[in-house]
Amino acid sequence: MKTADTKICLIIGDPVNHSLSPLMHNVAYKSVGLEEQFVYLAASVPVVKMKSVIESVLTLGIRGLTCTVPHKVAVIPFLDEIDETARKIGAVNTVVNTNGILKGFNTDWLGVITPLREETKLSKKKVLVLGAGGASRAVVYGLIKEGADVTITNRTWEKAKKLASEFGCRAIKKVDENSVKDMDIIINTTSVGMHPHENMSPLSCGGIAKKHIVMDIVYSPHETLFLQNAKKSGAKIIHGIEMLLHQGTAQFELYTGVKAPIELMRKTLQNTLLL
Ligand code: ATR
Repeated sequence: MKTADTKICLIIGDPVNHSLSPLMHNVAYKSVGLEEQFVYLAASVPVVKMKSVIESVLTLGIRGLTCTVPHKVAVIPFLDEIDETARKIGAVNTVVNTNGILKGFNTDWLGVITPLREETKLSKKKVLVLGAGGASRAVVYGLIKEGADVTITNRTWEKAKKLASEFGCRAIKKVDENSVKDMDIIINTTSVGMHPHENMSPLSCGGIAKKHIVMDIVYSPHETLFLQNAKKSGAKIIHGIEMLLHQGTAQFELYTGVKAPIELMRKTLQNTLLL
């Protein structure tokens, strides 16, 4: 039961109605006995209203503010503190309110790095990152931190070049079979293949084989064409749902200080997305 002491966590986005975060977090609160202490809600807010949102967070004593696109950059000027990782990535997806002090974090990079780390050591691994947008920044940051050898490619070449020079890695204009063969890991950070464009893949050439680990951050459909093709070639695949899960577990722990019930959260997402 909720009481006068229940702390509010809130996800904002524009739009936000598709978000699975409220479901994932509320189920988790219940399972670890925090149902009375926490509730997780959602609000669709235009990005120009960020100042009002922050005033509301402070006025209402909202404990946690989750920011999705396009709020991850817009929230930064309103924060009292920003964690070093979020500063380097240049985006905040998690704001923790501790007695009126707002501190921003980024857990997106953990969403990709944690499931990859479970499969392999990333140090010195050759990783091809498809895309150079916001999600790619978090992924590239995490990979470089782990000591991986990163190559970025993107539809808009200038963006790939800029991101690579910022993080001290390589960018390539065109991906061919040989460049794919040379890699250990390939990660899609673009929206290509996302519902309703399930028949598209971000990689048009061959070269993926059994030795590869292939990850997609797209989680709808559960198994994108990119992952289906990689699986057929014998590669180890990691579904987009893992990114959603691991950014969420890290965020749960920042808001509550309690270890996240990861298996239950995974099951909750799977049950919803595989309906
Ligand atoms: P996010 O924050 O989700 O990463 P973003 O910053 O808009 O979103 O980045 C989207 C990424 O997907 C970009 O790398 C984009 O390529 P461009 O930089 O050329 O725009 C990539 N992308 C989106 N649609 C694409 C498509 N149809 N083909 C290839 N790349 C695409």
